[in-house]
Amino acid sequence: MATISFARGVPSADLLPVDELKSAIVRAMEKDATGMLLYGDPMGYMPLREWVGKRWYHDPAGVFVTNGSLQAFAFLAEVLFAGSGGRAAVEAPTYDRTILTLKRFGATVDAYPLLEDGIDVDALEAAIKAGKAPGLVYIIPNFQNPAGNVTTLAVRQRLVDLAAEHGFWIFEDDPYGDLRFSGEDVPRMFDLDQAGRVIYSTSFTKTIAPGIRAGALLLPEELRKKMAYIANQTYIGAVHFAHAAVAEYCNAGEFDKGLDRARPQLEARKDALVAALDAHLGDRFTFRAPEGGYFLWGRLDGVDCDALLPKANEAGVPFVKGSDFFVDGSGKDHLRLAFSAVKPEEMDEGIGRLAQLL
Ligand SMILES: Cc1ncc(COP(=O)(O)O)c(C=O)c1O
Repeated sequence: MATISFARGVPSADLLPVDELKSAIVRAMEKDATGMLLYGDPMGYMPLREWVGKRWYHDPAGVFVTNGSLQAFAFLAEVLFAGSGGRAAVEAPTYDRTILTLKRFGATVDAYPLLEDGIDVDALEAAIKAGKAPGLVYIIPNFQNPAGNVTTLAVRQRLVDLAAEHGFWIFEDDPYGDLRFSGEDVPRMFDLDQAGRVIYSTSFTKTIAPGIRAGALLLPEELRKKMAYIANQTYIGAVHFAHAAVAEYCNAGEFDKGLDRARPQLEARKDALVAALDAHLGDRFTFRAPEGGYFLWGRLDGVDCDALLPKANEAGVPFVKGSDFFVDGSGKDHLRLAFSAVKPEEMDEGIGRLAQLL
């Protein structure tokens, strides 16, 4: 019985841009073999920083390219919390690795409920007034991992205003923003911010391929030297070989072509998943279908998903249990289904297997 995995938030192997990357590597080697093969700037490979700066509107001097955005976030957590501690605020639920990374560098992690329109800003403001001000607020604004929802403009604006008033950083983690298949884009907090408190993060993991390990931060002046220092101490320079290929791929116009290919595929997968959930689970599973990204999040009424998971693994339909995404291990009746890497024709079989276990 072949495994149908709803666990990994990865691009579908059959949709990876293999030929386009192959020729980008060759062209990059022809243009700049030395730059690809020697150590380079700890802030990252300049032609890729320039492309990122143009696309996401930032001075290339402040674009920091790393081996994936998680690495960049770990560097920031080290800069802000290592040795000194402090508070970080996250959405509940949120990306599990973020919680682990913050804790690893000594931050106290305070989780605030993720409501339909975004993090509970009233609760955050009340906590600040009560003396629990964070040094960093971590937000996944688009097609949140795991919940799939989009933070509204009003909540984004309030967060930016609070950051200006209280002097905390906002980490706007946006690896899914380019993968909208319906509805309207919402302005970035990075663009709403007048006080220079927002660090915007993007990644090529979901829009090209995870194995190239390429992510980028748009950094304010104040953090650049500190981040470059940590990068230099950690790896001297990022993987310029891969990043030169990414720069070449992007400069050849392949990035947008890749998005144009991915969006309808993702929508078809989401639609097939929703149809399979309706057919096999009906009212037992409560969810809101996302307008983009990789994930569908929902509640299985009265089911302990921690206990369900080993059985699902055995049945070859792994998912991620909801409790992984909460600081306090709550959310046991929730689960995250990644639809990105499951073909539409496999959805019915996969959800059918899951339903049989209940
Ligand atoms: C919200 C979020 N941030 C960061 C990452 C890590 O991305 P990267 O591969 O760029 O390190 C992921 C990967 O799943 C993610 O979902």
